Amino acid sequence: MPFRLLALALLLQLTLHSATSPKLSRKGMVVAQDAIAADVGARILRNGGNAIDAAIATAFALAVTHPAAGNIGGGGFIVLRTADGQTAAYDFRETAPGAAHPEMFLRNGKYDPQAHHEGHRAVGVPGAVAGMWLAWTNHGKLNWSNLVAPAITLARDGFPISFELAESLRGITPAMRQYPAAHKQFTKEGEPYQPGDTLKQPDLARTLERIAVRGPDDFYRGETARLIVAEMQQNNGLITAEDLRAYRAVKRSVIRGTYRGFGIISMPPPSSGGVAIVQALNILEGYDLASSGLGAARSTHLTVEALRRVFAQRAQFLGDPDFNTNMPITKLVSKDHAADLRRSINPQRASRSEIQNFSWSNESDATTHLSVVDSAKNAVSLTCTLEASYGSKIVVTGAGFLLNNEIGDFNAAPGLTTTNGLIGSYPNLARPGKRMLSSMSPTILVEDGELFLVTGTPGGRTIISTVLQTIINTVDFKINAQDAVNAARFHHQWFPDQINFERGGLTVDTQARLAEWGHALRPVAVQGAAQVIRVTGDGYLEAGADMRWADSKASTVEEFDRASSRH
Ligand code: DON
Repeated sequence: MPFRLLALALLLQLTLHSATSPKLSRKGMVVAQDAIAADVGARILRNGGNAIDAAIATAFALAVTHPAAGNIGGGGFIVLRTADGQTAAYDFRETAPGAAHPEMFLRNGKYDPQAHHEGHRAVGVPGAVAGMWLAWTNHGKLNWSNLVAPAITLARDGFPISFELAESLRGITPAMRQYPAAHKQFTKEGEPYQPGDTLKQPDLARTLERIAVRGPDDFYRGETARLIVAEMQQNNGLITAEDLRAYRAVKRSVIRGTYRGFGIISMPPPSSGGVAIVQALNILEGYDLASSGLGAARSTHLTVEALRRVFAQRAQFLGDPDFNTNMPITKLVSKDHAADLRRSINPQRASRSEIQNFSWSNESDATTHLSVVDSAKNAVSLTCTLEASYGSKIVVTGAGFLLNNEIGDFNAAPGLTTTNGLIGSYPNLARPGKRMLSSMSPTILVEDGELFLVTGTPGGRTIISTVLQTIINTVDFKINAQDAVNAARFHHQWFPDQINFERGGLTVDTQARLAEWGHALRPVAVQGAAQVIRVTGDGYLEAGADMRWADSKASTVEEFDRASSRH
């Protein structure tokens, strides 16, 4: 081969597949957005806990060490698959308080984004404690109090603040100034914490102590419930003691699909994630993505066109299943329907996103993800959220935890659909007790009946695109878990009609080709924080920790802690 060609081939190899050495384990692994919390989970596995024990302990630890998204004042989803192949989805999404209604975000007849997203009225009834408890009741092995204990110690004795957390707290302080309990908890008497300082959260430690003893009884009916209601009453909030008493986490059947022979197990509504991911994979199954290559114009275009269609249908059809009993889920995830959608895709021309005619007559940045696999290959994929970073920024006075602003995930107002991404369709309008539509997509893949991949990420609507790409990267492009997480990401959500891509992630040539095919392109800094575990052909657990965030870590059961060069 002439030297110049060889050099070019080598360069391409490096840019397209900069293979890293992923961390491996035989005995169990927790991958999370915070190292201290991931270590808590691995310790639980070491002490005889199973994957659900470890996931719950990690989630409680994240509520202390990763306050932007880890929480007890928000909600989330768990998708799990046991070693013997049973599956379950746990829905601990927040619900709207009894006073909610579809036009609650209008002021004098006009949509008011502040009313939608800010303050005490944007807080949904938290689901996290009920959800952890339900999942633990059905699958846990260790005592409940053992799973909360590490979080209590971290909150009471404190933990060292990382560079990333110090920077994040500095950024959020101005927004917290109006909420005295939050400002007190997350600043050093008004001054920003520095890296290496110790963050102690004594009120949170006491709340966790009550939860360790009384579980959801305390949170929904006891002292913590009393503190939440007092916080609401003093600040014109909507959540009442009755709303808290009425909250229930729900066990649901997973959404299933197949992709090139792999089985897909994902989250059903009230998440749009599972339906959207299965739908997109069904569309993409009709193309040979592997031959066009990772990061190529063709594979990017086809994925974007699949996402465009999937997001339009998400807007039209999906919402809380308990309020929308006739959602066409079976049709949406069918191969036939995907074939119909595929026929409308031009392989070299962007479609235009159109605002559809929603039928009114048949009315009938913060999240975090963790993946756990134990030595028996029980697998847990858990995504939880406060919605915005630090949620509402409100800390419950005397209870020391942040409240979500999840109400913002309901549609803005009946009929208000805009090219900027507001959706006005019926299925996701606010109603008392209703769960707001989510994009969180904890997902598990199986191959020949064996566990293959555990994946998930934060990132609002980009969650669907990011999880989809971790699947395509491992299944089609056959790269290891760490490379699959490292690979640059892109996103399209129907409206706005543009491709967001991680800056530097598409070559100039690819950008030019996509623009020529009619796409608008917009660079963004980062997309998501995927935490992935892949099972290799010879049975190792292989980590993909998202190092876009320096605190992410894959923590293994094996005591040694060094990346292996084996892959
Ligand atoms: O449930 C949802 O889809 C959103 N509330 C998630 C928000 C989110 O991921 C923000 N974090 N980056």
